Amino acid sequence: MDQPGANYLTRRSKRPEPQYSDDLRLANYPPPYPDGWYRLLRSKSLRRGQVRYLECPGRALVVWRSEDADEVFAMPAFCPHLGANLAGGRVCKDRIECPFHGWQFTGDGRAASIPYGDIVPTRIATESFPVEEVHGQIFMYHRGGGARQQAGEEVPYPVPRIPARQSNTRRAWTLTLPVGATACRSSSRPCSTSAAVAWNAAG
Ligand code: FES
Repeated sequence: MDQPGANYLTRRSKRPEPQYSDDLRLANYPPPYPDGWYRLLRSKSLRRGQVRYLECPGRALVVWRSEDADEVFAMPAFCPHLGANLAGGRVCKDRIECPFHGWQFTGDGRAASIPYGDIVPTRIATESFPVEEVHGQIFMYHRGGGARQQAGEEVPYPVPRIPARQSNTRRAWTLTLPVGATACRSSSRPCSTSAAVAWNAAG
């Protein structure tokens, strides 16, 4: 006669092992970074022709502003050719040039020119991200779940605007405190009934 629990052990050992894979994980877990707009940096920190390296959201990115217009582009930082960091490269008009072999890429992640040949391998391309500049800040749209993105694709909603911040100018705000809310350290008497606070509306 079987020992108590023997069936249980047998049944258990015959169970199929769960198959773990990235695909299974993507199908069953929410993405670590949800879909949405993510702030990259202040507009002022990226002048025309400037390139920056950033990590957001969990991705290594190269962000640049074109030389002749105010367009901003964002794509994965590592070159789709042999993986050099594009942030070490330079901006040529609206393209980013890789510091390693000098290939140039447009803001949609496609190879646009190579310095030693006329034929451009168009199949070499990488992702790129929709970018918007709002209220003096640069945002990119990130789709969670590993979907490959392309600049210019339709996004579910634009960056939300805050009407009170439509202009990027400095404004003075006044903060009114009730009597006795503040007291000087050197005196037990209330020092003021109101305080003016300078606020940089541009953030
Ligand atoms: S690694 Fe970028 S062009 Fe070769």
